[in-house]
Amino acid sequence: MSVPSRVTIVEVGPRDGLQNEKLALSPQMRAELINRLAAAGVIRIEAGSFVSPTAVPQMAGTDQTLALILKQNLRLAVLVPNLRGLADALAAGVDEIAVFAAASETFSKRNINCSIEESLQRYAEVVAEARRHGVSARGYVSCVLGCPYEGAIDGARVVSVAGALLEMGCFEVSLGDTIGVGGPLQARRLVERVARVAPLDRIAVHFHDTYGQALANIFACLETGVSIVDSSIAGLGGCPFAPGAAGNVATEDVVYMLQRMDVETGVSLDRLLAAGAFACAQLDRAPASRVAQAYGARASLSKSYAATGLRSTTRGK
Ligand code: HMG
Ligand code: MG
Repeated sequence: MSVPSRVTIVEVGPRDGLQNEKLALSPQMRAELINRLAAAGVIRIEAGSFVSPTAVPQMAGTDQTLALILKQNLRLAVLVPNLRGLADALAAGVDEIAVFAAASETFSKRNINCSIEESLQRYAEVVAEARRHGVSARGYVSCVLGCPYEGAIDGARVVSVAGALLEMGCFEVSLGDTIGVGGPLQARRLVERVARVAPLDRIAVHFHDTYGQALANIFACLETGVSIVDSSIAGLGGCPFAPGAAGNVATEDVVYMLQRMDVETGVSLDRLLAAGAFACAQLDRAPASRVAQAYGARASLSKSYAATGLRSTTRGK
């Protein structure tokens, strides 16, 4: 099997990452992070969400964040749960929204306070209204490989929710392993099932890394021909409605893996690492990215060699 020669990274850290960090970053700092991610060559970035600030206080002020982003050559998206969120997103001048359904009834209820069916009806209106304003819509399916409340999820449910999102006019569907429980073969088989109702270039994969399977899952899915991968700078975040879920797979780790396979992303790893370091400094935390940790260790090793006057034997970029 081969993998695509080019992969599109959808950076979800400023939304999915920051929505579950203990320290809430100001809209200004969120914009600064997005500007740094853009400087690293990331084109598609989820900039925030227009949801209830009681439900997710970290995303309050997304309109202010958007106003501070240097927008050239960027595709910015925001999450919206209803028409109210869409109205706010339109007022902020976005070009793209994302609606988020689930393959688990209990998760749907906990996350957006309605059933899957109700959410799909609501999103059909939201997507139609967005498109009427020339705004495109992405659709998420959460809990595709497992639910924190219901456990195993029937793949047929994932296929039907993904199909409904595309049918209502979403240009792409992102398959979310919200709690990071899936493994590579399971992930690949699911993508193959969804690919029976959707072209591969309209399917994205969205892995959280709770059990350390995310990179393996991505690789397994790339072998199906999928070429759109969601990831979060420094592996920030989790999900406030999925207890115990870790952050998304780290963008640095995905880009490193892809570089090692000669897969184009258009992203500079050095600049990405700098953006991740900036985010972690603001959040007063260490990066979950293994690549960031390795580069950090290498940098401090070189410093200590310099201090002792010895020469480092560490080689490479
Ligand atoms: P509800 O309580 O059913 O809504 O919540 P409501 O219409 O009864 O309104 C309740 C209050 O929220 C009202 O305020 C509304 O005005 C306000 P009050 O009168 O009490 O002061 N409200 C809003 N405020 C701002 N923006 C809005 C909005 N809508 C209502 N758009 C609702 C339903 C969906 C609003 C709520 O449950 C909510 O906001 N949930 C947010 C969920 C969320 O953001 N989850 C995280 C993202 S999902 C995720 O991370 C998974 C993903 O990454 C994929 C994966 O990993 O699988 C995407
Ligand atoms: Mg997520």
